[in-house]
Amino acid sequence: MCGIVGYIGQNEVQDVLLKGLEKLEYRGYDSAGIATFNDQGVHVTKVKGRIATLRDEVEASTEGTMGIGHTRWATHGAPSKVNAHPHQSTSKRFTIVHNGVIENYEDVQKEYIPDVQLQSETDTEIIVQLLEKLVEEQQDVEAAFRKAISLFKGSYAVAVMDAQNPDTIFVAKNKSPLLVGLGDDFNVVSSDSLAMLHVTNEFVELEDKEVVLVERNSVQIKKLDGTKVERDSFTAEIDESDIEKGTYPHFMLKEIDEQPFVIRRIIQEYQDENDNIKLDPEVREAMKDHDRVYIIACGTSYHAGLVGKQFIEKLAQVPVEVHVASEFSYNMPLLSEKPLFIFISQSGETADSRAVLVEIKQKGYKALTITNVPGSTLSREADYTLHLHAGPEIAVASTKAYTAQMAVLAILAVDTAQAKGLQLEFNPLSELGIAANAMEALTDQKEQLEDIARTYLSTTRNCFFIGRSIDYYVGLEGALKLKEISYIQAEGFAGGELKHGTIALIEEGTPVMALATQENVNYSIRGNVKEVAARGANPCVISMKGLDQESDAFVIPHVHELLTPLVSVVPYQLISYYAALHRDCDVDKPRNLAKSVTVE
Ligand code: F6R
Repeated sequence: MCGIVGYIGQNEVQDVLLKGLEKLEYRGYDSAGIATFNDQGVHVTKVKGRIATLRDEVEASTEGTMGIGHTRWATHGAPSKVNAHPHQSTSKRFTIVHNGVIENYEDVQKEYIPDVQLQSETDTEIIVQLLEKLVEEQQDVEAAFRKAISLFKGSYAVAVMDAQNPDTIFVAKNKSPLLVGLGDDFNVVSSDSLAMLHVTNEFVELEDKEVVLVERNSVQIKKLDGTKVERDSFTAEIDESDIEKGTYPHFMLKEIDEQPFVIRRIIQEYQDENDNIKLDPEVREAMKDHDRVYIIACGTSYHAGLVGKQFIEKLAQVPVEVHVASEFSYNMPLLSEKPLFIFISQSGETADSRAVLVEIKQKGYKALTITNVPGSTLSREADYTLHLHAGPEIAVASTKAYTAQMAVLAILAVDTAQAKGLQLEFNPLSELGIAANAMEALTDQKEQLEDIARTYLSTTRNCFFIGRSIDYYVGLEGALKLKEISYIQAEGFAGGELKHGTIALIEEGTPVMALATQENVNYSIRGNVKEVAARGANPCVISMKGLDQESDAFVIPHVHELLTPLVSVVPYQLISYYAALHRDCDVDKPRNLAKSVTVE
């Protein structure tokens, strides 16, 4: 959600900044801007819209050797040119880009700068206005910057330029991700390492409430009281091709196709030389020692959590509750004596999940984060982390991270069962291998799935997804995928629940997607299909080989009953993709959304 970049060096910055913003655009894309510094001073260019529009607007005369940039997902203030970053103080001495939300900006304004007339509706502008005021009083910019930063509550990753100092970008962070990248004769700033891989792969991680002075040949990290901090750099292990579309028209399609490889990578990463599960022993102990698991997640990750509950309860016989993060604090359940919290988050940055993590850590409980980004906030703040190994997921709609989450949860469940001495016939690593092959077979059947999308979804206003047992959870995910990228109103229901109200919405031709992959509910779900068909619906049944019937629209290969969600979701992902394409939607960057949601 929002992305920031900065560069200070000997070379021209515009293209470096714009390329970085293009890489971050999936995080937020309603407006964008850059500020560059040259002999003539600081130049700000900003637009409502995408980075491509910004590229067209940027003028050669504003080229410089220091600059900052921003791509925005609006929180405070509508998406507009005025509210786009960078923002400037009244005298234009200070220029800022900011990712996050300053919670107490109104209080700070009232107390410190009541007379300043703000130019935008953002919480961000207040930071540079306050800085300007403090500098007028104290003169020392670094001290004023530390003081200003110390007054703000909330989340921020900021980069600030001073029009009277051509040699420094001032940087600070709290709760929002921010890295400094190191180069020869240049340094960079970025909210994600992947944005700056085109210039460096060596980065220094920053911690909350640190400020950094980034110069061409030095990087000084300090605490808010001015004490210096030494920190080693690390090499980002991301291949640049991981973040390119290559020959694919969309990241989403590429990421759907990558799923079999991701599952095979997970098998490798979690397998020892004797083909047994290899898992952090501390995670094993934690799973064994706690009497109940509370899974906390949002959106697609929540749907993976629902499937994870089935794995952990059925295989490891540990009771599990799954909670939507944003509701957890209001409806905190009565906790068991020894609860273990599992946070599932692709990005590891989701603010709703983090709020719960902070709360439960304050109460002294242990937490495990399952994430695709091991250095992320949720990973650093939890006691343990399991990595998804899915590679960067760029499309806003999550696909490979979801299947990776379920695969890791299956391994965790079996490992826990084994640690508890339970005898299982289920070998997750070999069953996951079979599931990966099945996924691969499905990604080769795109034409058939495109036909289904065309037949059922080209003109419809709405669509229902039904399933029973574990298929119900996949239906929830199928509905989310379809609605978020095609804007068709899609809802998932438990098959048996439909007749308790929702069936009233079935009209002539309403598409109803039904999954039939579980033997014990096959008869019942087919009964539900008949009920909706009798009322005019256009049912589309996706079944598993062995349970299939002649009228089924699509049949997935046979895999272990527990692992069907990894496979049955693939047709839903592809159908959603093609439905969005047929409706001319922006598949990778659907309206109103952003990849990592760092506001509550
Ligand atoms: C939907 C989607 C979202 C995310 C949700 C949580 O395709 O991607 O529903 O799953 O915003 O994000 P993470 O997993 O990063 O915590």
